Amino acid sequence: MSAESGVALGEAHAKAILIGEHSVVYGHPAIAIPVTSLRTVARVSAETGPIRFGIDGSILAIDELPARIAPIGEAARVALRAFGLPEADVLIRLRTGIPPAAGLGGSAAVAHAVIEAVRRFAGGELTEAERFELVQAAERVAHGNPSGLDATATRARTPILFHAGATRPLAVGAPMWLVLGDTGVRGSTSDAVARVRGFVDAHPGRGAELLDLLARMTGEAERLLAAGDVGRLGPCLDRAHDALVELGVGHDAIDELVAAARAGGARGVKITGAGCGGCVLALADSAAAAERLSHAMTEANAVASWVVEVEPTAGEGAR
Ligand code: PMV
Repeated sequence: MSAESGVALGEAHAKAILIGEHSVVYGHPAIAIPVTSLRTVARVSAETGPIRFGIDGSILAIDELPARIAPIGEAARVALRAFGLPEADVLIRLRTGIPPAAGLGGSAAVAHAVIEAVRRFAGGELTEAERFELVQAAERVAHGNPSGLDATATRARTPILFHAGATRPLAVGAPMWLVLGDTGVRGSTSDAVARVRGFVDAHPGRGAELLDLLARMTGEAERLLAAGDVGRLGPCLDRAHDALVELGVGHDAIDELVAAARAGGARGVKITGAGCGGCVLALADSAAAAERLSHAMTEANAVASWVVEVEPTAGEGAR
């Protein structure tokens, strides 16, 4: 929609990190998969007066936003500023199906949706690099010092490898299924990042070994994804999980879902996202196996679970 009608929409989707979270903060690569079934929609409309937000049936001023959704305010600010609009005379309504602080990129998706809605409202243009920078500015409120992985992955259409700020699409050699199980425990990404930093500072030798291991497993995962080798990809995920737990981002509720997924026949299972709660990701080689894992995690107290099919890529990318 355009500014003429006074209303504009923007949307973005969730993401799951297959492997490489936390080590990506130290400049190593990470692999993320778009989760297009979970979406956030922002709607900007013209209103006179100070900027306001419509969230969960309430209308809030910018300084009334609860801390957990403060990045929405920052996303609106940076976007309005980018288009030379005043920080006033708009109502921004938000509808999101992405659980917040669950490791699924909820805050980056909100930022993308708001920025896109404001862009359309203003009738302006943004390059991908400008869009990325605006999302990162909003994400800094949520994360402190985000790697940029979430900002990239919540707009990606295919599995991607993110490395040192650059992104490329990945080949997938065979269909596979990811089952995301939500512990319902809400952690803060910046706290989790600080925890890992604390470990690395306190144990520099072991910390470096674990980060290198995560980088190696990510490289391995890229090859196995391209080869469609689910059987060997699973153990890479398991080893990454153990490293993340040793780095300090485990949780009892995660242990429970990991155990249930393993008992339910997962090919591999790990924390996905920041950890200290949030979601786990289990790998399956068929839709039926994925459904069984989803059921097993629900039985083990997951508050929600989602099955994501990773489709094979066609043509030259697939090796
Ligand atoms: O946004 P989350 O909670 O899925 O996790 C972000 C991934 C981290 O590697 C932990 C942080 C980052 O900035 O990349």
